[in-house]
Amino acid sequence: MSNDRLPRPAPISLAEYRQRRDRLMTALPADSAVLVSSASLVTRSRDSDYPFRQNSDFHYLTGFPEPEALLVLLPGREGGETVLFCQDRDPAQEAWTGRRYGADGALASFGIDEAFENAERDTRLPELLDGRHTIYLPLDDSQTRAWVDLCRTRLLAAQRRGAIAPDGYHDVCGLIHEQRMIKSEAELALMRHAAAVSARAHCRAMRTARPGLHEYHLQAELEHEFLWQGASGPAYDTIVGSGANACVLHYIENADCLGEGDLILIDAGAEFDLYAGDITRTFPAGGHFSDAQRTLYDVVLHAQQRAVDAVRPDVTLADIHAGVVRDLTAGLIELGLLSGDLQTCIDDESYRRFYLHSTSHWLGLDVHDVGRYRIAGESRRLAPGMVLTVEPGLYVPDAEDIPEPYRGIGIRIEDDVAVTADGREVLTDGVPKRTAEIEALMNDG
Ligand code: GLY
Ligand code: MN
Ligand code: MN
Repeated sequence: MSNDRLPRPAPISLAEYRQRRDRLMTALPADSAVLVSSASLVTRSRDSDYPFRQNSDFHYLTGFPEPEALLVLLPGREGGETVLFCQDRDPAQEAWTGRRYGADGALASFGIDEAFENAERDTRLPELLDGRHTIYLPLDDSQTRAWVDLCRTRLLAAQRRGAIAPDGYHDVCGLIHEQRMIKSEAELALMRHAAAVSARAHCRAMRTARPGLHEYHLQAELEHEFLWQGASGPAYDTIVGSGANACVLHYIENADCLGEGDLILIDAGAEFDLYAGDITRTFPAGGHFSDAQRTLYDVVLHAQQRAVDAVRPDVTLADIHAGVVRDLTAGLIELGLLSGDLQTCIDDESYRRFYLHSTSHWLGLDVHDVGRYRIAGESRRLAPGMVLTVEPGLYVPDAEDIPEPYRGIGIRIEDDVAVTADGREVLTDGVPKRTAEIEALMNDG
């Protein structure tokens, strides 16, 4: 097993974080303010917490890695537009839970204009929001709204001294999410890396697989490679489904024994610097596809490859999905799993017995990344800098009317694709998907 390390890409620069905040503020009225909170620690039990993962929007605007922080953007403010509230320095607590930046550290390391520790928040925040009419925040964030309400109460009480309280909320997420949809060069470098690490992990699982091991052994191989390469871990719960478990779309028990004739479906991706990889491959536990498995696999692969090749600016996800449905349905008819005319099977949706999910989703800081899928009722057109997955599959029920060799087979093939000026860049081609290449990898040495 190769233990070499992939070179790490550069982190996002402070200048880029500043640029993101500037772009957001440019889109907002001069008398508004933006408030975005970090994620909070969540108690698992007593004095143990769930692993901390930063809020993606907060991360996108700051790069600040701690919980219990609040970003305040104040367009046009003299003395600095970006203010951060963060955890108080507390040497006794830090001896247990790790170093905190504190206000001085945040100011020194994150390119912001002003920082305060949370002990000052209740007095400083009303001062900062004085005269700011509309507050842009994530509308579903009740904690942040509560802080604004507190400021409003304080500022209303000080009205006779000239204070001006905010008089409206607006959601900020739509604006941030539209920015997040188009990845910069630095973001693409991180996503290439998350994809490359994910691809190596899949190769490692393929090489290790053999009948008699359990699904969790392959999960261990994948997640070992993620951590070995400096990823923080999986970007979502790792799916290792052998045999008919592959037909359960979000199967995460990963508990069963790999059977001799099983196909194994692995859907797993690394999270690197908070960017997600998302790869699915399907391969035979014993290293050789049976005839029926290969035939069905090639139907999915044909549809998947054509869908990947269709990715380019101005195409829509609806176009890509329609092409996949057509190719899969034609394949199912040819194999006798569906009967009738192609257009009828598409129109009456009989293909949905075998393919019931959509073909793509956006990918980025979140595995199912943010950004609108439809604009003015129409499927959105792709543009350079967008990143999406292409992930058709076929899931054959274990039912009496299905020819025996196909029963209970689940196959999905998923790649991550960036839209470029004139086409696409496939980020996940570090792991094979053609049957001969998979077999060669599994049986090499
Ligand atoms: N791994 C989740 C998905 O492929 O959408
Ligand atoms: Mn996916
Ligand atoms: Mn996936």
